[in-house]
Amino acid sequence: MRTKVAIALVMLLATGQGTAQEKIWDETEAQKKERMAWWTHDRFGLFIHWGLYALPARHEWVKHREKTTNEEYQKYFEQFNPDLYNPREWAKMAKAAGMKYAVITTKHHEGFTLFDSKFTDYKATNTPIGRDLLKEWVDAFRAEGMKIGFYYSLIDWHHPHFTIDRIHPLRQDNDKNYAKLNKDRDMTKYREYMHNQVRELLTNYGKVDMLWLDFSYPGKHGKGWKEWGSVELLKMVRQLQPGIIVNNRADLKGVNGGGDFVTPEQFKVPEWPTIDGKKVPWETCQTFSGSWGYYRDENTWKNTKQLLVLLIETVSKGGNLLLNVGPTARGAFDQRAQNSLDNMGLWMKFNGRAIYGCTQAPEEFEAPPNTLLTYNEKTNRLYVHLLDYPLQNFVIGGLKGKLKYAQFLHDGSEIRTSKPYGHAFDFKMGHNDINLSLPVIKPDVKIPVIELILN
Ligand code: GLC
Repeated sequence: MRTKVAIALVMLLATGQGTAQEKIWDETEAQKKERMAWWTHDRFGLFIHWGLYALPARHEWVKHREKTTNEEYQKYFEQFNPDLYNPREWAKMAKAAGMKYAVITTKHHEGFTLFDSKFTDYKATNTPIGRDLLKEWVDAFRAEGMKIGFYYSLIDWHHPHFTIDRIHPLRQDNDKNYAKLNKDRDMTKYREYMHNQVRELLTNYGKVDMLWLDFSYPGKHGKGWKEWGSVELLKMVRQLQPGIIVNNRADLKGVNGGGDFVTPEQFKVPEWPTIDGKKVPWETCQTFSGSWGYYRDENTWKNTKQLLVLLIETVSKGGNLLLNVGPTARGAFDQRAQNSLDNMGLWMKFNGRAIYGCTQAPEEFEAPPNTLLTYNEKTNRLYVHLLDYPLQNFVIGGLKGKLKYAQFLHDGSEIRTSKPYGHAFDFKMGHNDINLSLPVIKPDVKIPVIELILN
């Protein structure tokens, strides 16, 4: 009987189905909270997608989309020469936008590394620019006081031993062709290569605050924890950098230490994400315009208000926002990205207190129409973000006896409570409501914030 169960288990593992059962480490909830404290406080980070795909400038999946071979893609490697690359400038822009951490693609699906890996020739040091661009990036962002994170693609469309699967540029439409193409490819070798590179990243660049692994797609002609060797990989990661925060894309759901936060992508969650009914740490990654890599002809850029709402709404549900820039082939931020960052920075400069250290407001406070609430537990301050500016009277429930003082956050000007102004006819305030008396003219702030200092 026991052997039967064992055989079944081995078969399950061998087919790559099921979930990894092993645990990676014994960490208590309290320890995890402590380890992630800087991240849950900081809330706002910069994502950077930069690689050879900046040259074609038509999506970072261009190799997949156009079914490009390694040979055809080689011209981008030969031309890669980002002469304007100045990561100190990038870091300054991120910081001025109010971002506190940054995550960069050390390698994306195309397989090209920005860092000087001794396990490959397919790296920045062998292109005309000839430098370890990651090293410069780390130094620059550190110098600006930012936390640093490495995105590393589990997928590799360049490596000769990475088997052709359903999202590979050379994907096929029948099993026979897959078998033919994969005949000489050996995932064991790729796995070793990939683990080696992650080891390099976590050994050669000092303290790394975050690791962003991307991504798993188990099932037929797909890849998951087994193909990646995720359990061993994460064990190594935790050992090399015990303080590091890791995302959840190595397909280790439910494994203690397999991932620290969930990653809704280009999607606004309706409420704080949960696992087994428990609220979990989360970070949504979002683009300005739809793609991650620089895309010259893409015109679907979100406006400043949309971006601010994205940030505020994320924090109002207890999450982080990782907002992406795809630098150009010259190594600069697109002017449109610069403008968006500037505009966000203007708001953050005066309203950052409603973001940093904030989270979802306690349930007793109900958000009035057209507002979002954030809350700082430590200071006991409630922030009301006015998405659509109200007309003079602003009634909030559940606050009677709890409000010590109210002010606009951007200029610290007092907001007084009063009876509602005007002829309100049948309107009656609830017995727990208070009315704030707002100026008729909307302050010159994209989204004004009321700071309520509570008793
Ligand atoms: C994805 C895509 C990708 C991008 C990433 C960001 O899964 O493959 O191009 O890097 O998400 O979250």
